[in-house]
Amino acid sequence: MVLTRLLLPILTATVLLFETGYPHTGIVNTGIVAPNTPTTQVTVVRQTATPTPAPSVQPSAIPTPDGELLYAAGKATYLKQYCGICHALAAASTTGVFGPSHDRMGMVAAQRIEEAGYDGEAQDAAAYIRESIVSPEVYAAPGTANVRHRMPSYAHLAEAELDALVYFLLEQK
Ligand code: HEC
Repeated sequence: MVLTRLLLPILTATVLLFETGYPHTGIVNTGIVAPNTPTTQVTVVRQTATPTPAPSVQPSAIPTPDGELLYAAGKATYLKQYCGICHALAAASTTGVFGPSHDRMGMVAAQRIEEAGYDGEAQDAAAYIRESIVSPEVYAAPGTANVRHRMPSYAHLAEAELDALVYFLLEQK
């Protein structure tokens, strides 16, 4: 009798420990229940296999997925806004003649800010392209001062559309 009274609690405790701590459930119940407090549950976060790192590529050789998306969005905006009615751009298959060609806009933009007559705010090519789209009155590209169809402002476009347009034109080199 004495032995049973001594062994039973030990046995019960062992069984409880085994059941509640069974690892396959992912949840370990400590089994400790303090008065008036909920059962403490410890979630075991399983370790997942570490993915093999992708082979490194030259960033300049292959455009990043983000860049590709932005480029596509820029081209879509360019077409949607009919920029090509006035501008020629092979990458968008447009042939407009009222404004300058956009075929090498990324390079041209960098040159524009160096031109003697340039008095805009842009410090780099991207800023020049953005300024040309939002505030075309700031600077007229050489030879375009007297064109019949002036460039309208596209300041009403969403910030994301402007970002995409600028990226798209900057990539024309
Ligand atoms: C109605 C004709 C017209 C439309 C439409 C038009 N542009 Fe222009 N764009 C011009 C003219 C004219 C110029 C040259 C005068 C100037 O620099 O503002 C010009 C200049 C530019 C320049 C500077 C070019 C350079 O060589 O410095 C950029 C960049 C430009 N446009 C982008 C756009 C974009 C992007 C759109 C569409 C969202 C657009 N344009 C729609 C007529 C147009």
